[in-house]
Amino acid sequence: MRIAASADLHFTPQSYAKLKDQFERVRDDADVLVLAGDLTNYGQPDEMEPLLNVLVRLRLPTVVVLGNHDYESGKEEELRRMLIAGGVKVLDGSGYERDGVGFAGAKGFIGGFGRGVLTAFGEREVKEFVRASIDETMKLERGISQLRAPKRVVVVHYSPIVETVEGEAPEIFPFLGTSRLAEVIDRHGADLVLHGHAHHGKLDGHTRGGVPVHNVAISLLQAQNPSRVYRVFEL
Ligand SMILES: [Fe+2]
Ligand SMILES: [Fe+2]
Repeated sequence: MRIAASADLHFTPQSYAKLKDQFERVRDDADVLVLAGDLTNYGQPDEMEPLLNVLVRLRLPTVVVLGNHDYESGKEEELRRMLIAGGVKVLDGSGYERDGVGFAGAKGFIGGFGRGVLTAFGEREVKEFVRASIDETMKLERGISQLRAPKRVVVVHYSPIVETVEGEAPEIFPFLGTSRLAEVIDRHGADLVLHGHAHHGKLDGHTRGGVPVHNVAISLLQAQNPSRVYRVFEL
């Protein structure tokens, strides 16, 4: 299976007009399209509608997770319903299988990496924050454990490892993801992890357990090659 992956489109019809020709090639290049969050800029239905028109016209099975920008207006449920009605698979603690490949995903959350992971100690506000991080991790776990396919792809918006956020300012690393996600991935195993959010991070890394992790933020792909709007992985 050839999987085309991209993230952080922050879609507007104006910005897409410049990418249209490259994006339309995806049908020849891949069997499935994965978008790892930040589909819209402000999480508004009138941003999602033109994006959905584009996705429907690509006529390719499409798997997405939402990103923090898709939550900005508090209309994430409406966006999710629109996507599902358009035939897009929205992973939110769920799994989707196709041709022997299972996809599991969730938005994920922030919280830091390795020894720097924030723990639930002290103020109620800190505990609520950590709870949100653990909830997303458990969602991802639920999605992965549903899969029965021999090959597995994990899709998250936030990074599960520090390696693929390097390039961003170190001060903001804890806001770019959390290694809690990687612990779940390593516990259950996966063949490929795709994420976005770190627009200026690094393309490739691995979990401690050796699972390949790729940051497919479109800005990062285009920094290497302006005409590259998705990256194709073969499983
Ligand atoms: Fe983004
Ligand atoms: Fe983001």
